[in-house]
Amino acid sequence: MSEPSRHAPSEDDGGETRMDEVGFDRVVERSLSRRSLSRRGLLGGVLALGPIAGVMGTGLLGCGGGQRTRRAEGALRLSFTPVPARGDDRVHVPAGFVDPPAPLVRWGDPIFEGVEEFDHASGGSAEDSDRVFGENCDGMESFVHGGRQLLAVNHEYANPARNLPESGGTPQSAADVLKLQSLQGVSVIEVRETDRGWRVVKESPFNRRITHNTPMAIVGPAAGHPLLRTSADPTGTRTLGTMANCGSGRTPWGTYLTCEENFNGYFGSTEAGAQYDEVVAAGYGRYGIGAKGVGYDYHRWDERFDTSRSPNEPHRAGWVVEIDPTDPNSTPKKHTGLGRFKHENAECALAGDGRVVVYMGDDERGEFLYRFVSNARYVEGQSTEGLLDEGTLYAAQFDDDGLGTWLALTPETTGMELGEMLIFAREAASRVGATTMDRPEWVAVHPSAAEAYCSLTNNTNRGVKPNAGGDATPVDAVNPRERNCYGQVVRWRPDRQDHGSTTFAWDLYVVAGNPAVHDDDNAGSPNVTRDNMFNSPDGMTFDRSGLLWIQTDGSDSDEGDFAGMGNNQMLVGDPETGEIARFMTGPKGCEITGLTWSADGRTLFVGIQHPGGSWPDGEGLPRSSVLAVQRSDGGVIG
Ligand code: FEO
Ligand code: CA
Ligand code: CA
Ligand code: CA
Repeated sequence: MSEPSRHAPSEDDGGETRMDEVGFDRVVERSLSRRSLSRRGLLGGVLALGPIAGVMGTGLLGCGGGQRTRRAEGALRLSFTPVPARGDDRVHVPAGFVDPPAPLVRWGDPIFEGVEEFDHASGGSAEDSDRVFGENCDGMESFVHGGRQLLAVNHEYANPARNLPESGGTPQSAADVLKLQSLQGVSVIEVRETDRGWRVVKESPFNRRITHNTPMAIVGPAAGHPLLRTSADPTGTRTLGTMANCGSGRTPWGTYLTCEENFNGYFGSTEAGAQYDEVVAAGYGRYGIGAKGVGYDYHRWDERFDTSRSPNEPHRAGWVVEIDPTDPNSTPKKHTGLGRFKHENAECALAGDGRVVVYMGDDERGEFLYRFVSNARYVEGQSTEGLLDEGTLYAAQFDDDGLGTWLALTPETTGMELGEMLIFAREAASRVGATTMDRPEWVAVHPSAAEAYCSLTNNTNRGVKPNAGGDATPVDAVNPRERNCYGQVVRWRPDRQDHGSTTFAWDLYVVAGNPAVHDDDNAGSPNVTRDNMFNSPDGMTFDRSGLLWIQTDGSDSDEGDFAGMGNNQMLVGDPETGEIARFMTGPKGCEITGLTWSADGRTLFVGIQHPGGSWPDGEGLPRSSVLAVQRSDGGVIG
């Protein structure tokens, strides 16, 4: 979520040999070890990486890659004509693509048989709210099971004003709260391509809604911890619901990962001066949990969300949750081993020895980038039990010389007891001195080269004020601009080309900016031009050919610092050349978030979240939707 005005209830807004010691590191040092980056300085870093950026389309697969059908190598390779910036109420794609792309499914569309079509006047019936496609779709992943095409899609938040018009946009009853809770979480849907385009298969046995009330298991090292126990669950191992489901991920064994981001906003207190245990109060401060919440008012109608009555309930959110999309009766698992923070996405890779590596951003100004490395190895066909539970969590340190280290978070390094350390992972990362970042959003792992990329969306507090834990946030090489309003994408290459390495070399793939308005650092890196400029990179996914798809969630004011950028957009970057081209523009007011492919690679599913106007129906309420983007000639995309 980014703009409070539009998203009413939310905020934000070792020792190992280093690879390419000579070429890569020298370039990074030359281009980045300076406080004030010049455009030319940035150019050096970006372009010099070209020759080492990997072999495209070859064997090594990222997490879950085996389930995707291999696409023709280099099918797109920026061969399209980029679209210009736009400020209108529609979606634009390049010539040669079906224009406009058709919505596959919209907020409120029935995903089960016998459910009524969406009613613009009421925002849909309360009764059916857990049987329709939820609101504000976000991260999504594609799965193929028994020849069926399944999609798992997050629903990040619900808009009380649109869903509760008769209550004035604020819950006035437990039923109002239940309607909102039911419109969020996750949808698992079977989809099929028909003569009239892609459709949800309403009779599919795999369709499922997971909401704020779906029973879940709490697993991993912190399960059962006193800080996770409530009167409703004295065991600290069972909870209800997943919330603020932002970005996504997929495990190598074909399950879905949904990431709980701005969970804090759902909690509040009916008792103004409620007192809390010192540790609990400190956590509330660090994670932004206050007495008022951000407008959902759950706490007035659902005791679980009232911190004066259930002070540990907020500790049961802020996790990565694993869902088996092929078993609608399965119980989702909250994995405490992956740490509790405002999770953006969870991008899996395999270390050289088969251990599972999960990269994760914490989207808050001045918070950290994390990874988890399992103790055991993933072996296809063998049990995966415990792989996301037993392991080590790390936070990233980016040094100004272009090198970096994953700092292990353990009771020894942090001085914290293990369970408490995972529940308050931010504090743990602060204690080891991890690098405060410009709001880490999605991480994307290259499909063949040993590289990972993370979008750092923006940080208007950079160089201005500390994070909520009191850590200073000085301008540094990886977060190179004070009051950063445009964002950048950092990439790192693990040493020995092994995601299991604890050290890496890094550089900035792109520094967003506006070369039409600025001629200093705010013009961005040289691969940003008047023709492709954007702000606030957020969603990011690699296609199988090694192109990086970048989605934005920023200002679409099209004025001042953002003049000429138009609406939020999706771009395609070629890491080999540094080139970036604009592929899509969204309707006014939206962010573009969530991206995956059909099994045959001919359809790109793209999420449009919180559009304005009356998109896509042309009248009535605007509706977040998943689009099916196709080439006019039916060819493979990306
Ligand atoms: Fe839900 Fe940080 O985006
Ligand atoms: Ca959002
Ligand atoms: Ca996001
Ligand atoms: Ca964002």
